[in-house]
Amino acid sequence: MNILAIETSCDETALSIIQTNNNDTEPNFRVLSDLVISQIDIHAEYGGVFPALAKREHAKNLVPLLSQALRDAGLYSGASNGLQDTDILQQILEREPELFEQLRTLLNTIETPSIDMIMVTHGPGLAPALWVGVNFARALSVAWNIPVVPVNHMEGHITSILLKDDYKNLDEALSPLDSFSFPMIALLVSGGHTQLVLVRGWGDYEIIGETIDDAVGEAFDKVARMLDMEYPGGPKISRAAVHGVENEHVQLPRPMMHTNDYRFSFSGLKTSVRYLIESLTENNQYNEQTINDIAREFEYAVTDVLVKKTCAAIEEYGAQGLIIAGGVSANTFIRDSFEQEMNRYNIPLYLPEQKLCGDNSLMIATAGFVNYTKNKTTTPQDEVVAVGNLKL
Ligand code: KG4
Ligand code: ZN
Repeated sequence: MNILAIETSCDETALSIIQTNNNDTEPNFRVLSDLVISQIDIHAEYGGVFPALAKREHAKNLVPLLSQALRDAGLYSGASNGLQDTDILQQILEREPELFEQLRTLLNTIETPSIDMIMVTHGPGLAPALWVGVNFARALSVAWNIPVVPVNHMEGHITSILLKDDYKNLDEALSPLDSFSFPMIALLVSGGHTQLVLVRGWGDYEIIGETIDDAVGEAFDKVARMLDMEYPGGPKISRAAVHGVENEHVQLPRPMMHTNDYRFSFSGLKTSVRYLIESLTENNQYNEQTINDIAREFEYAVTDVLVKKTCAAIEEYGAQGLIIAGGVSANTFIRDSFEQEMNRYNIPLYLPEQKLCGDNSLMIATAGFVNYTKNKTTTPQDEVVAVGNLKL
């Protein structure tokens, strides 16, 4: 069984093809193609992701990616068997006319490929961006007469830890699902979310706390902007922080550190950084070194809060493992801090491969695969809808 996975929730257009033997007792998972086009450079100009632009770029990228993915997977055959009725495809892609034209051309050039199922992110994310991927999946579902599995992007981040280090070269790229002990706690940190999740099993999640305002990644991006660093700010802050030192004039609060619940708040931290910049500027102390010091102190402040609340959750729920995932889980300081902290608990820490921390479609294939293996359910294409604020 060959599965096509599509991710367009934010500013990465990602598409992959995986192969599985569809054997219930010993399913395997092999990566045939894994592609992503990042729109970061396009959005950097605006200091953040611009939804209408993201939508347009996804629409432009999807067909070239599909064509390449089919070639990678050895599923591209130039001998066309012709398209019968394109009216319904045109209807589905009514709001993406350029995508429709490109897709029609491709479908008229190739033989129906041996793809058996489509998995697509249907939320959460930017609604206009999500719709492009969803409608593309629906159109392919009709054209190739294959079913769709809608996937939750956050579940994708959680299951990204299942992909083994060398996943590209393995016949069995996933860690065995039964090699994990539950419950686990998952800390999801991305540009749009900061959540602590109780994971009772694969596909069985409960959010036990989340941010009441900004997400961690968002805070990284906003603070970076104040420090004149380009979007996305996370990696830039992280690099600057390495050169920062402890500085008694550069202190930030640890918001909601002692509230005894699992809620987070990061918008106040951003305001504190603004005041800090103002006061350093007034005292003629705002310079490259203090910028690095702010970056360092900011990482400490965020990490202190994340560690404190996550450890409390591990203790309260008797967690047998900790998962940290989402774009911010690429942060070296946060990864190292948790690695050290976990020595106290004697439970495993699961982090995604560095290149799978950000948005990608392999994590969507993985989450969809885990669910499909368990439930064997697909959704008729006309019932697949994008849900911007989809919950876990
Ligand atoms: O999961 P993701 O790729 O997209 C969303 O679903 O939101 O996360 C993107 C976020 C951005 O806010 C970016 O600044 C942040 O992850 N990020 C980082 C690092 N790399 C990416 N934040 C801190 N340190 C990093 N190294
Ligand atoms: Zn994400």
